Amino acid sequence: MKPVIVVHGGAWAIPDALAEASVAGVKAAALAGIGVLKRGGRALDAVEDAVRKMEDDSVFDAGHGAVLNTDGEVELDAIIMEGETLAAGAVSSVRNIANPVSLARAVMEKTDHVMLTSQGANLFAESMGIPTLPTDSLVTEKERKEWEHYKNYSAGVEELFNSQWGNDTVGAVALDSFGNVACATSTGGIRNKMVGRVGDSPVIGSGGYADNRSGAVSCTGHGESILKVTLARLILFHMDQGRTASDAAGFSLRYMGERVKGGGGAIVVSPTGDWTATFTTERMAWAAIQEDLLYYGVHQSNMHTRVRLSVFI
Ligand code: GLY
Repeated sequence: MKPVIVVHGGAWAIPDALAEASVAGVKAAALAGIGVLKRGGRALDAVEDAVRKMEDDSVFDAGHGAVLNTDGEVELDAIIMEGETLAAGAVSSVRNIANPVSLARAVMEKTDHVMLTSQGANLFAESMGIPTLPTDSLVTEKERKEWEHYKNYSAGVEELFNSQWGNDTVGAVALDSFGNVACATSTGGIRNKMVGRVGDSPVIGSGGYADNRSGAVSCTGHGESILKVTLARLILFHMDQGRTASDAAGFSLRYMGERVKGGGGAIVVSPTGDWTATFTTERMAWAAIQEDLLYYGVHQSNMHTRVRLSVFI
């Protein structure tokens, strides 16, 4: 099987000033992921590595650079899942952790549970020796200013995702040379969210899903809308009915738009290597690598650039 990696840096109305850095960030993440796969690594390792890269990049709303809740604090959600055994791990509302995706993986591998939340997740991180950071160390100066500016603003779904202050989520899906798929998604959620609010990202079947029999999906967009239509599973359901990855993602995202007025995006890879990066928001930064070709884009769903990978290595 030829390995594939697809990553996204969030579906929202990315302003011009952030578009270039967002594309650079997703390209770097895709290159990190394909590096793992080319060295014979598993899809699970590749998606974790790619997402960690974006959690560490403050241009994205995940890990360092996450948006703030109504109390002006960071609360992070993440999921990771592998398609061979359906093993999954997730964390929600965690604070002071630089790489929630790796904490989610520890939940998957070291506990009998699928999700740990809030204080329990932080206590588990401590018991695993995962370092905690000072409270404000994940907060950028830019986010603090934006939060101050918008803290009394209450937008509806459409306004939020058509505005240039939405921000949203990172994710990766991969197919490895053994034929296994995996997904990972990580987010700071929505700016000004209620304390304790959990979106789609850590919820299995909504923010992500991976099954070797169907494919792997990582979603981004308005969390409450994604939760209502269980977007990741919905996309895989349509693939199981015979649609391509692109058709299934487009169909499901349009359904979400019509049914609950939510905008968003998804990256998908099937067990045969059929992949897509599709969105209904104004923009979504994404990158994919398959057979030494790097694809990337940020503008409309059907616009992308394709480059032979040797140019970038
Ligand atoms: N899609 C991320 C969130 O709504 O929290």
